[in-house]
This record gives sequence, C-alpha cells and structure tokens, in this order.
Amino acid sequence: MLHPDPHSYYDSSQPRTRRLRLSLGVDFERKQIEGEATLEFGETAQGPLDLDTKGLDILSVQVAGAGPIPWSLGEEDPILGRCLRLELPAGTRDVTVSYRTSPEAMALQWLAPEQTEGKQAPFLFSQCQQIHARTMVPCQDTPMVRIAYQAEVTIPAGLTAVMSAGPAGDAPAGPGRHCFRFTMPQPIPSYLLALAVGRLESRDLSPRSRVWAEPETVEAAAWEFAGVEDMILKAEALFGAYPWDRYDMLVLPPSFPYGGMENPRMTFLTPTLLAGDRSLVDVVAHELAHSWTGNLVTNASMEHFWLNEGFTVWAERRILRILHGEDAEALGWAMGQNALEESLDRFKDEPHLTRLRLHLQGIDPDDAFSSIPYEKGARLVAALEREVGEDRFHRFLRDYMDTFRFTSITTEQWCAFVDAKLPGALAAVDAAAYLDRPGLPASAPVFRSAPLERLSELATRWTEGARPEVDAMARWSPAELTVYLQQLPRKLTQEDCAWLDGHLELTARTNYEILVEWLTLAAAAEYEPAFARIREVLMKVGRMKYLRPLYGALGDHPRTRALAREIFAAASPGYHGLSRRVVQSVLDKYPA
Ligand code: BES
Ligand code: ZN
Repeated sequence: MLHPDPHSYYDSSQPRTRRLRLSLGVDFERKQIEGEATLEFGETAQGPLDLDTKGLDILSVQVAGAGPIPWSLGEEDPILGRCLRLELPAGTRDVTVSYRTSPEAMALQWLAPEQTEGKQAPFLFSQCQQIHARTMVPCQDTPMVRIAYQAEVTIPAGLTAVMSAGPAGDAPAGPGRHCFRFTMPQPIPSYLLALAVGRLESRDLSPRSRVWAEPETVEAAAWEFAGVEDMILKAEALFGAYPWDRYDMLVLPPSFPYGGMENPRMTFLTPTLLAGDRSLVDVVAHELAHSWTGNLVTNASMEHFWLNEGFTVWAERRILRILHGEDAEALGWAMGQNALEESLDRFKDEPHLTRLRLHLQGIDPDDAFSSIPYEKGARLVAALEREVGEDRFHRFLRDYMDTFRFTSITTEQWCAFVDAKLPGALAAVDAAAYLDRPGLPASAPVFRSAPLERLSELATRWTEGARPEVDAMARWSPAELTVYLQQLPRKLTQEDCAWLDGHLELTARTNYEILVEWLTLAAAAEYEPAFARIREVLMKVGRMKYLRPLYGALGDHPRTRALAREIFAAASPGYHGLSRRVVQSVLDKYPA
C-alpha cells in the first residue's frame, strides 16, 4: 500500500527495515549530528525504497559491494518533510546513508551551558515522538515498521551519552572525543529512538533501575524516584514480566517539553517532577506502564494514538490505587477530568479531533495533541473493565499483551480482538461513541470518593463564600490541593487571590502542579504580587503542559497580555521548538 500511515512516506509494498546501525558524531559548535545510518532488511531487497527525512543533508548513499547508488529527494511537505527515494540494486542486504542534521532539527534541542543545572557544559536531548525521528535519522518513520538498533555515538570527552537502548561499552575516540556504544535488541518503532548527551551521573535504585541526571540534581532525583522498583513490581502484576531488561530514567534540563517520554530502557523526565515529596511520581508510573502499552503493543499510526495513551493512563491510575489507595486514585481521575474538559473546550470548533479514532491526513499530529486520547481513552478502558469485571479484564489484558507483543496495531484490530475475547462488551459500553463520536459519552464512568466530594463542594461554592478551614487545609496532600485549585472558579478577584496566597503560601510553592495551577488563577485575576513568579517560571520551564495554561490565562487582560509578549520574547530562544510553537499559537489567539 502506498501510504498506510498518513504521516509517513512509507510504502508497505517496499522492503522493510529490520535493523538500524547508527554511527553518529555530535558537534555542539555546529549544532549538528553528522552520521551514517545503515538500514538492514534481514533478507535481500531491491527496487525503490522511500524514506522519511526532514531538514537532513544527504551526503551519499552506498550499498556494500555495489558502491554509491542513485537517490533523489522529493518536494518538501511542511508536515512530512522530504521523501528520500533510493533505488536498491538486486541483492541488497543493507544500505548506508551518510547525512547531517539541521541545527533546527525538531527532534533535537541543543542547550547552552547556562540552560543546564550545572551551567558548565552544553546538553543535547532528542524527542522523536510524534514524527521527528526523521529530523535525526533517515528512516521509515512510522510505527508500522519496527527496528532493532545499535549505535556508536562520538561526543566531547567528559560528557556522557545515553540512548533508548542498553549500554555496550565506551572508549576514547581521538583527541578530546569519546565514543559510547549502545544496542537495542528488541524491535521498536522509530519514535522511540532517543539520545541525550550531557554532564551526567547516575545512582542505582534497584538491581534493574538507575536514574541519570546532572551531578547537581542526581541525589534529589534518586530520592524522588526511590520507589520505582515497587512500581515495576506492581506493573508486572498487571501486565506480565517487564520485557525490556532494565528500566532506567534520565532527568533532563527544565526546557524538556513533556512531563515524561517513555523511551525504552531510558525514560526521559522533566526536572519539574523533583518536588521533594514524591508527590509527582505518577508520571513515572505512566512512563513505566508504556513499557507494555505503547512500547510492546504500539499504535500503528498517530490516528490510533489513544491505544497508547488511553491504556497507559488507565494503568497509571491502577498502579496509583495499588500503591496509595482508592482516594488517591479518585484524585488522579479528577485531575484527568479537568484536563479532558480543557481539551474538549479547546477543540470545540474542531469536534473531529475529540474522537478517539482520528483522521489525520494533512494534519500535524502535534497540532492534534490533547488530553482526549489520554482521558477519554482511559475512560473507555475503565468502562470495559467495569462491564466484564476485574478478573476477566485482567485475563484479557494479559492475553492482549501476549497476542500483540512487539507489533503495532490499529483501532480496528483492537476492536476485532475485544469482540473475540469479550463478546458483546464493546456494544455494552457503547464503544462506538468513544471511538467515532465527539465529546465524552454521558455513560462514561465517574470516579468518586468522600474526600474528593468535599473538595469539589468547597471549591465550587467559593463564590457563595465557602472557605476551607485553615487547619484542615494545611493537612491536604499535594494532590488534594491541586484538585481544589483546579475546581475553583476560573475568575477570582484580587481579594480572593490574596486570601488563597495568604493562607496557602502558593507563590512560594515548588511543587509545579500546585504552583502553575495557582499562577494560572493569579494571571487570570491580574494579581500583580504573582507576576514576578510567573516570569520566573516561564523563563525557566519549557514543559508545554505548564506553558499553555499560563500563557493562556495571561491573555485575559491588556496588561498581562503585554507581560506575556515580553516574557515570551525573552524566554523563547531557550524553549524547545515544540514549546515555542505551542506558545506562539496561544499568543496568536489573543485579542489584537
Ligand atoms: N508519550 C507521551 C509524551 C508525548 C506524547 C510526546 C505525544 C510526544 C507526543 C508521554 O508518555 C506522556 O504522555 N507524558 C505525559 C505524562 C502524563 C500523562 C502522566 C506528559 O508529558 O505530561
Ligand atoms: Zn503517555
């Protein structure tokens, strides 16, 4: 088939890459990776081969034994990039593309030393999901193709490289250079290729897990994530044995645009999780759960992204319940509901993007990104579980993982499997309403608990004068406070803000979920005492989950709009390209 994935030039009638060998040189001065990518087919191949590239400089293409072979680059598409067409001679077993990346490659952020914690050395990290692997490596950049890989990465001596793979040794590589080797024996989709280079140290957390971070933060990270082995054990009880050997984590500099990214064997995490109280480790539970739902059983294209995220959110909340009880789980679902409603509102004029099964021809998957596949998806999974009961659902999950391990599947394949294993269940929960209709079905499961009811009641009755008792409020968990702030009316007065800040010392908080929730309310209220803190956060942190609401709320008043534009002008050179795009789209919606 010509283009089974609307976000790739991949042609399924052509040879499929089975294995990738990378030899990469990292050049911090030029902000470029120069490298060779060797694509192996596992059998002899011939004829045309279409690869995805974006911003890559192609230097040469060679087939062992046949020498240079003909290639051509197609027209630039703003979303897809350029198709690199190779003509493979008969009997080709592998082909090597020599290339250079662009300094603007969306997958790569090149940080100056000042943007790191230690401020001593530069830092590089990649973020390939959704379709940015092609800005780093020429490849069949679709999750329909899975590849094992090995890599050798040469970097400045004194720095450390990590990848979404197992380490395979390192050695000096000429004056001032050092080479790190990696191998990933299991087949992964291209969006899980990952590389980071910086001044890094690690701490062991268990025999199969360690955390990497800059030396300045590594102790704090080791403390925050000390419970990871317990989470791995709980996840194994849900899904079966951990399939990737090690579960290591890397804490990135604060410009990392996501909370976490499930790169296999090396989850990437934002440093905003280091709250000092282990209250934000649900993000680790989430990325860990992707080891099964996403990395082992993968969405066939971004049109089926909900299969990755919906199952993973469901698993994250289940792990939360096992570790911290039902009240904690209910708070998790409440935060999710809040995010879901925000996304439904954002897409109110594009209701087709609120379905689970998407049609994304001509749409940039980063523009379609929202909490909907996460939260609507997780509610469909929870509805199925309620319908068939926990025990049957548990057996179903094991069966699902066994049947599709190391494959990439569509919503249609998933539906056929559920129909075969849990006959009638899809119809009973009205799965079609989730998959193909906009909004959230009225029958979607709701999650309650007594503490959650009390918080919601207090928050929604704020305008009638309801105020929490000061002593009780001081004992709220970080999650309770977050939910309370989320459920307060969006429009507060300056007196309201002063009351909240006075009693809860919100501006001084270092838990980013609480802090950003508060600053968003303060921005919308034009509450000046919070402006300096807003600026501080926006200058430092690039996590899109925080940038979007904060810049959004600053749009409510002329004075805060001016503040937002001024902060963005100063902060945007330090933002990741993805974050910059998101903020720009928020500012573009400000009234003129
Ligand atoms: N895989 C996602 C991050 C992602 C999604 C990157 C789409 C690029 C495109 C990751 O697993 C994720 O969902 N992260 C969340 C964590 C949260 C839901 C616990 C995040 O970054 O906030
Ligand atoms: Zn996820």
